[in-house]
Amino acid sequence: MADKKEIESRIVFLRQELERHNHNYYVNNAPEISDREFDLMMKELECLESENPEFDDPYSPTRRVGSDISKGFEQARHIYPMLSLGNTYSVGEVDDFVRRTRDSLMGQDFAIVGEMKFDGTSISLIYEEGRLVRAVTRGDGEKGDVVTENVKTIKSIPLVLKGTGWPRRFEIRGEIVLPWKEFDRLNAERRFNEEALFANPRNAASGTLKLLNPAEVARRGLDAYFYYLLGEELPADNHFDNMRAAASWGFKVSDAMALLNNIEEVDAYINHWDTARKELPVATDGLVFKVNSLVQQLNLGFTAKSPRWAIAYKFQAERALTPLKFVSFEVGRMGIVTPVANLEPVLLSGTIVKRASLHNEDIIKNLDIHEGDSLYVEKGGEIIPKITGVDLSARVPGSTPVQFVRECPACGTPLVRVEGEASWMCPNKYGCTPQITGRVEHFVGRRMMNIDGIGEETAETLFASGLVSNIADLYTLTKDSIMALDRFGEKSADRIIQSVAQSKNVPFERVVYALSIPYVGETVAKKIARSCKSMDRLMEMSEEELTAIDDIGPRIAASIVEYLAAPVNRDIISRLREAGVRMEVEQTDDVPAGDRLSGQTFVISGVFTHHSRDEYKAMIEANGGKNAGSISKKTDYVLAGSNMGPAKLEKATKLGIPVIDEDAFLGMLS
Ligand code: IVH
Repeated sequence: MADKKEIESRIVFLRQELERHNHNYYVNNAPEISDREFDLMMKELECLESENPEFDDPYSPTRRVGSDISKGFEQARHIYPMLSLGNTYSVGEVDDFVRRTRDSLMGQDFAIVGEMKFDGTSISLIYEEGRLVRAVTRGDGEKGDVVTENVKTIKSIPLVLKGTGWPRRFEIRGEIVLPWKEFDRLNAERRFNEEALFANPRNAASGTLKLLNPAEVARRGLDAYFYYLLGEELPADNHFDNMRAAASWGFKVSDAMALLNNIEEVDAYINHWDTARKELPVATDGLVFKVNSLVQQLNLGFTAKSPRWAIAYKFQAERALTPLKFVSFEVGRMGIVTPVANLEPVLLSGTIVKRASLHNEDIIKNLDIHEGDSLYVEKGGEIIPKITGVDLSARVPGSTPVQFVRECPACGTPLVRVEGEASWMCPNKYGCTPQITGRVEHFVGRRMMNIDGIGEETAETLFASGLVSNIADLYTLTKDSIMALDRFGEKSADRIIQSVAQSKNVPFERVVYALSIPYVGETVAKKIARSCKSMDRLMEMSEEELTAIDDIGPRIAASIVEYLAAPVNRDIISRLREAGVRMEVEQTDDVPAGDRLSGQTFVISGVFTHHSRDEYKAMIEANGGKNAGSISKKTDYVLAGSNMGPAKLEKATKLGIPVIDEDAFLGMLS
């Protein structure tokens, strides 16, 4: 790349991309790329910038460590900046680090401490007179969010120190993690509530630490490991002994920490933990090697971003190679066509992988996938498998590249490219079966109309039988018409009919979300419903009026107007209205505030019809009450929805705690 113009545009591109990924990672908790891909891009940018200093920019992402600062927390400046570590993926580079250190220390003896690199979110704790006084996130490295109240809920963190010999004031840094067991439990609960799943324990840990409700944080089961002691009067002159002292004061310090004396011992440590880490109760993404002596650390010093006395070795993501059977193209409820790699089943990190999304046409092209190729599948810190490459040496000569379909695989309609995006869409909204059944499935979901007994298969059966061609038809179902279908007995028919009837009480904002208006997700639906208050009003609103609502941009506004102008949708809405579905905000849909629940502690359990769990929590707090995660003698009421666990019910009954339903609760507030 000799041309300066080309170099400049590559630098600009990398800066923009890295900033975007930084935001996805630190603010949205939803990374799109693996750490490794991020690191490679960062390395390329660092390299280009150092070779081409004329394109220097003080705002380049190479100049900062990323920020996790979010609104809603007070901020504090770190006493010592929180830097990151230099990364490597190769054992050879770790060996080079040891050799470099030996050269810099000019032949002095030195020991290296090997540690786990915990995959969570970093935290700085300040202790004074043996008590925890402040907990701050890394933030941008200079200042972070004060999350003391949330951190206090983590049982393994000592609030008051044990033992003796702690300095009057010191700082200790560590990683807040969500153990695998808690992560699985949390995601199972979120799946049940149809909430978005966390991609990995790291996102779950950082998302949890930033919750504004410490009671909810307490319920999530966070843990913390500590790896760095800072202050003026530390007990020892070396890192290893300082960490041992910290362990004696009550901090959790990993048993995996070891003193290593030469390259051979360092390599053996890597070799051992590369596999042994899989047995640990928490996620790790690598190892960290640190010079043990604090004096030697001081001599080695820091670069702008990281210490010269430490290096992180990142584990390779687990990877498998498997033949591609075929690529299927699947149509979602919005008509977007997603390519899916159907693979020869392969075992990867303990689960069998058979399918992996290829997301869009560009990804197929960039990976240059041919029919019959063998593909690399990876699972890094992510739970969802990802296709990362093709084994070119195994390619059959003359094989054809995988072509993205140009016609809808379900209805044959020519596809159209979604403006400004890499996806293709089937425009046959009202005649394409998977779009219709997909909308029915969405409509009946727990967070929408909460209609029980209709999953993917039932939606397809109802459509194929001619009973349900759109969401309004659900309200014309009768017990007999359902029982006439194969495999439906009286019980399942009753369940559907009963829950269709109950759905008429679902608040207006969830009805708006349930309609499947393109670009209208849960949050947007809430904003629109709360602002316009009724379907009649929403139907009259122009794009300009809609964009005046907070967070509603021109694309969403245009989509709403287009949806509501279509005669088929107007017909569906009028049939829903006739059936009794709520088409306006009711008084109780707004969160009433006051002090009616002052001093009362509630535990919420199950799935609700009128409001979401989060809304009930907000109502309890807005009225002076407290939310607790589990039932105890201190609980005053259990607010129970459907599907409340039998163990909870038993415990409440045993302790004589009243279990109330949502109508009774709303009654308490009115
Ligand atoms: S030492 C100045 N030790 O990795 C060095 N960091 O990129 C301070 N991490 O922000 C960090 N395990 O969140 C250190 N045993 C360990 C670690 C560790 C995880 C995280 C930490 C830090 C990042 C460095």
